[in-house]
Amino acid sequence: MKVLHIASEAVPLVKTGGLADVAGILPGILAGLGCDVRLVLPRYRAIRSEGFQKLPISLGVPLGPKEEWGAVWQGSLPDGTPVFLLEHDAFYGRPELYGPPGEAYEDNLPRFAFLSRGALQLCHAMAWFPDIIHLHDWQTSLVPAYLHTVERHSPLGRAPSVLTIHNMDYQGNFPAEQMPLTGLGWEHFNHMELEFHDRVSLLKGGIAHATEITTVSPTYAMEIQGSPLGRGLETSLAQRNRPVHGILNGMDYTVWDPSHDSFLSRHYDRKRLAGKKRCKADLQRIMGLEERSDLPLFGLVTRLAWQKGIDVLAKALSRLLELDVQFCILGAGDPWAERFFEDISKRWPGKAASFIGYSEELAHKIYAGADFFLMPSRYEPCGLGQLYAIRYGALPVVRDTGGLADTVENYDESTGNGTGFKFADLNPRALFDAMGRATSTYYHKPTHIARMRAQGMALRFEWERAARQYLDVYRMALQRRESARMRDAEVKGNL
Ligand code: ADP
Ligand code: GLC
Repeated sequence: MKVLHIASEAVPLVKTGGLADVAGILPGILAGLGCDVRLVLPRYRAIRSEGFQKLPISLGVPLGPKEEWGAVWQGSLPDGTPVFLLEHDAFYGRPELYGPPGEAYEDNLPRFAFLSRGALQLCHAMAWFPDIIHLHDWQTSLVPAYLHTVERHSPLGRAPSVLTIHNMDYQGNFPAEQMPLTGLGWEHFNHMELEFHDRVSLLKGGIAHATEITTVSPTYAMEIQGSPLGRGLETSLAQRNRPVHGILNGMDYTVWDPSHDSFLSRHYDRKRLAGKKRCKADLQRIMGLEERSDLPLFGLVTRLAWQKGIDVLAKALSRLLELDVQFCILGAGDPWAERFFEDISKRWPGKAASFIGYSEELAHKIYAGADFFLMPSRYEPCGLGQLYAIRYGALPVVRDTGGLADTVENYDESTGNGTGFKFADLNPRALFDAMGRATSTYYHKPTHIARMRAQGMALRFEWERAARQYLDVYRMALQRRESARMRDAEVKGNL
């Protein structure tokens, strides 16, 4: 089966969040299961082009009245998956992927229309026609509509599309005047397709046209089919009259494993935990926290965004730090939050610390050094942070929502079983109670903490399981497309 993935970020080339973790590994796992997979990404300035070669192809992509020209670079991911980067300096030669912190570039519609349509043109240029086209989030959500319109009679038009929604909150909504830049006629600006509250919504268009829709956990699949987490698009999902498939993400154990993680000065596993103590001391030193092995250390690695409940965390912080704990956070994002967390070490010297920015190395050190990992998410489609934390023996303290609900087993005081601590409501009080429960278990039931760590570290969230579920969805999509084609042929025959 030939599968084309189009995404806006993928590890190890470029990453702002979990989408990159998924787009960077799933194609390779599918290849391991026998698919012929290619991945298309924009060639951002942040991508280092060593190992990439410019192809003798230029793409002329119509964007409204203009045609934009781009070049193509070919390389591969570390697992060998072929990657094609679409080059367009004015669109992608910028410091950020989507916009400055907390903002969006004004021309994001043409930037990602270029990616979406350019990727299809690339297939024509290579005469490589996929059986399945797999899209990720609003950035590539125009593709299903292109397949039904501009590509309808081309060899690409027979390919069904699978759209994975990693986050229903990011919809790619733009002023109506930008509709012509999509390359689709105004007849598609209606409430069944791309029109959403008088704006153009790329994600809504994707939902209307995709053959199959998936999202990244079973609970989030249910949540987005209702309010409020459907964010107004629950009706568009309902109109499809077909299921939204919830496929839990896996994690990459070649990168995320404390027994051979190259960012750590000491290695450990669930049977030999001594190294974790050293990692905790390292982290305390690097972050300027007091080097105390007896205090429970709470860590966070996150985009500083509303989704992550960091406003509630900020409100609760003084109270939380009355507990006998330490706290450290690595994050970047909303400017107010960057300012708030920036100088917590001045307010609570030795007890709280932050690093504002993006650091792969520090992220690994926090998962390894922390005793607990906080995720007070307002909503969480899947969440990878808690999976990494579980693997590194940092017990997650999470809000019971989306993928957090599906992957963390709440602590049972009577048996000592569980892999973390869950709380239901999102308010400072509930967060304080959950941290309080974790802290008191740490001090009074150390055997339970050890047991939970061992249970969590033994779990496997395998990508192969997820990839097999995607294969089932691909087969469903192929079948659906085939029946639609036969219906069309029948109608034509009867005319
Ligand atoms: P989301 O995709 O919504 O941001 P996930 O939990 O799925 O949430 O994935 C977040 C990923 O991004 C994790 O791999 C996490 O370690 C990483 N990450 C987030 N913020 C940072 C940061 N400031 N520095 C390094 N890694 C980060
Ligand atoms: C999104 C979600 C996150 C999920 C990630 C990968 O960024 O916010 O919960 O883990 O995509 O699917």
